[in-house]
Amino acid sequence: MISRRRALAGLGALPACAAPPLGAQEAPLRQVARARGHVFGTAVRADLLADDAALAALVAREAELLVPEWEGKWDALQPEEGRFEFAPLRAIIGFAQRHQQRVRGHALIWHAAMPPWLPAALAEGPRRAAAVMEAHLTAVLRETREAIRDWDVLNEVIANPEGSDNPSPTDGDLRPTPWLSALGPGYPERALRLARQLDPTLRLTLNDYGVEADTPHAEVKRQRLLRVVRGLVQRGAPLDAVGIQAHLQMRDPFRPEPFIAFLRALRELGLAVLVTELDVREPDALAPSLAERDAAVAEYAGRFLAAAIEGGVRSVLTWGLTDRDSWLVKEPAVARGDGAATRGLPYDEALQPKPLRAALARALGGG
Ligand code: XIL
Repeated sequence: MISRRRALAGLGALPACAAPPLGAQEAPLRQVARARGHVFGTAVRADLLADDAALAALVAREAELLVPEWEGKWDALQPEEGRFEFAPLRAIIGFAQRHQQRVRGHALIWHAAMPPWLPAALAEGPRRAAAVMEAHLTAVLRETREAIRDWDVLNEVIANPEGSDNPSPTDGDLRPTPWLSALGPGYPERALRLARQLDPTLRLTLNDYGVEADTPHAEVKRQRLLRVVRGLVQRGAPLDAVGIQAHLQMRDPFRPEPFIAFLRALRELGLAVLVTELDVREPDALAPSLAERDAAVAEYAGRFLAAAIEGGVRSVLTWGLTDRDSWLVKEPAVARGDGAATRGLPYDEALQPKPLRAALARALGGG
């Protein structure tokens, strides 16, 4: 969990400690991407930016866009009903401003990272749930109005298919959550309309996972997402973009065609598409050497990224920069069962670049 104390203390000025130097031919990822009209970004945590000067320097050098890994979630922002806690998010916004970076927001409506009081309040019924939604969005969007112009209003609202190894499978298109139980299937539209009313020029994004691979489950989830999004657009609900989380799993085959067709279908609805949380889970059987593992991760992600760009993606964010700090390494729920540390991000645990960084540079730099 985030160190509240450090995050609340705010972040210092530009870290004195430099990031590990790039090779003579290498430009920062943000610059490589920008030269092609693309954007590279990463998830960050306020405590790490404050505590680790080398990481902070790396983030400052490589990323143009930041997203808070935790600081924009309900349990960070409203730990008790009516008591808003903006210091950690402000610390990230301040860091971004000092390094000419933008920040996107994550996440307003989500079934996870709920403070304990929230599910209890939602269970009290639709009027109470609507009031709670309105109070949170009103306070948060007022606070971030200047600094954040793109929010994940809806996170992971699409249902996982039956037989999927993801939790909460159902036959419906919307995932069963306390929000769905409280407000019924109109809750995504309600949240979008509220966000638009509160901040008419904010970009409103629906963000989800499990839609990338060439598997029957991913295909079902793509169709569900398309049905939900088409319904929203047809009803005139304000939705501007779809975020593809891209927590990739190398055990799943990837084929560009179905994924590109999916992105094109979204764009034909007038929506922007972006990659919001890229990282890569390695297959069950690992190659014998780190070099082979890293090459395989880069190859898999490279094929995904090429397809994403071909399908119209312009912005790519990774879910952190280093394996050292990755949720794939730290969290038992997503870490490997065999105890090996997943090497799914562009920098290793010693903050050295890996082939995945080169794959990102190639995809975003268009060469
Ligand atoms: C993850 C964080 O990385 C973890 O530290 C936290 O404990 C759980 O959430 N999809 C999302 C992100 O939208 O918010 C999640 O982040 C990863 C999956």
